[in-house]
Amino acid sequence: MATSSSSAAAAATVRKPAGLATLPPQRVRVLKFALWLLALLPFVRLLYLGATEQFGANPLEFVTRSTGTWTLVMLCLTLTITPLRRLTGWNWLIKMRRMLGLFAFFYAVQHFLLWIGVDRGFDLAYMIKDVYKRPFITVGFTAFMLMVPLALTSTNGMVRRLGGKRWQALHRLVYAIAVLAILHYWWHKAGKNDFGEVSIYAAVVFVLLGMRVWWRLRKPAAATRQPAA
Ligand code: HEM
Repeated sequence: MATSSSSAAAAATVRKPAGLATLPPQRVRVLKFALWLLALLPFVRLLYLGATEQFGANPLEFVTRSTGTWTLVMLCLTLTITPLRRLTGWNWLIKMRRMLGLFAFFYAVQHFLLWIGVDRGFDLAYMIKDVYKRPFITVGFTAFMLMVPLALTSTNGMVRRLGGKRWQALHRLVYAIAVLAILHYWWHKAGKNDFGEVSIYAAVVFVLLGMRVWWRLRKPAAATRQPAA
């Protein structure tokens, strides 16, 4: 009797809905697709504004600023996944991280190509001079260059080939990228003495990186077992 009541209790425990902590794979796939659509919206918006000639008086500035901003937003969202997962226990969030990181790269490529093609007119000497002479470009360029190996090693095959530890160590570059991105934005705005928006992004990045430092200092052994980004 005791056995049957305890097995009934165990069955009830198993059937109990786990809330958002564990989601069935199908629901995770739906959420991932919804997030993919949302992350694509800024690009679709740009296509629409371009097709309807709504870029304003300075189209290059408009599109460069938009793609730069969305690169930074996607970077911040990528960096939010690990702390959010840790605070909520929603382990499925990890399935969104690679996609958000790749969206950051997607917008960064557009931002970079605009500079190469439209701003600098594919003139290599002019590009080198810009990277060398304007510190905010130097920093943005460095951030983008650091994003390239992360995008190239984002596949499961590359994780296997590099091995988990080396892959994690490489992908910690995302922290440097986030700091450089803030510096790039800050320097860009310094000329106009307009620090309103960039201060908000800087605070977000500070909190997201600060949480990692805090956790690492408090529980070094546990923290090293956490995924990198
Ligand atoms: C991680 C990489 C990067 C991020 C997150 C980023 C982000 C940004 C942001 C947020 C802005 C300011 C947007 C605004 O004023 O509202 C900006 C502006 C700009 N970025 Fe980047 N950027 C990155 C890389 C680069 C690279 C590689 C280049 C070129 C080499 C570049 C060139 C520029 C230029 C020229 C502007 C000024 C646009 C204008 O006001 O006319 N950025 N970027």
